[in-house]
Amino acid sequence: MRKLVCPGSFDPVTNGHVDVFERAAALADEVVVAVLINSSKKGLFSIEERVELLQAVTKDLKNVRIDTFRGLLVDFCKSIQAQAIVKGLRAVSDFDYELQMSQMNYQAGGVDTIFVATNPAHSFLSSSLVKEFASLNGDVSQWVPQVVLSALEKKFRK
Ligand code: PNS
Repeated sequence: MRKLVCPGSFDPVTNGHVDVFERAAALADEVVVAVLINSSKKGLFSIEERVELLQAVTKDLKNVRIDTFRGLLVDFCKSIQAQAIVKGLRAVSDFDYELQMSQMNYQAGGVDTIFVATNPAHSFLSSSLVKEFASLNGDVSQWVPQVVLSALEKKFRK
């Protein structure tokens, strides 16, 4: 069984993430979207809220499930017997750090990383920019799924 992991903070999930999930789902028997629990970094959305939003936006992808992890990604991958990590590469600027992480994860645990080139329509998209835009009353409807848009509107009480 080919099992792939899409890791991230997903604070919140964007259309760019969903594109990566869909493409990973087409390559694997099972895709685990893994939300990092990082107690030293407080996000806009709680881990429970992020998981709920991820479940809502992946409900039609039958081989995708949502999970959370603490600590090393490579340990999480090994604990669920995943073969590889899937990451989206938006631009060359993503590459240096992603390459380092992928090499470290492979050396530490033999877990490979598969990179998918982000759809150019999403190449500038990040959760941080979406949050900033939404917090300043900007319209982010073209960059996030409807359920995320509603959640952002609630957070910022538009
Ligand atoms: O959405 P993000 O915040 O860019 O995701 C980053 C994430 C969660 C993929 C990365 O920080 C990670 O893998 N963290 C787990 C800790 C770990 O394994 N660190 C060593 C990386 S070589």
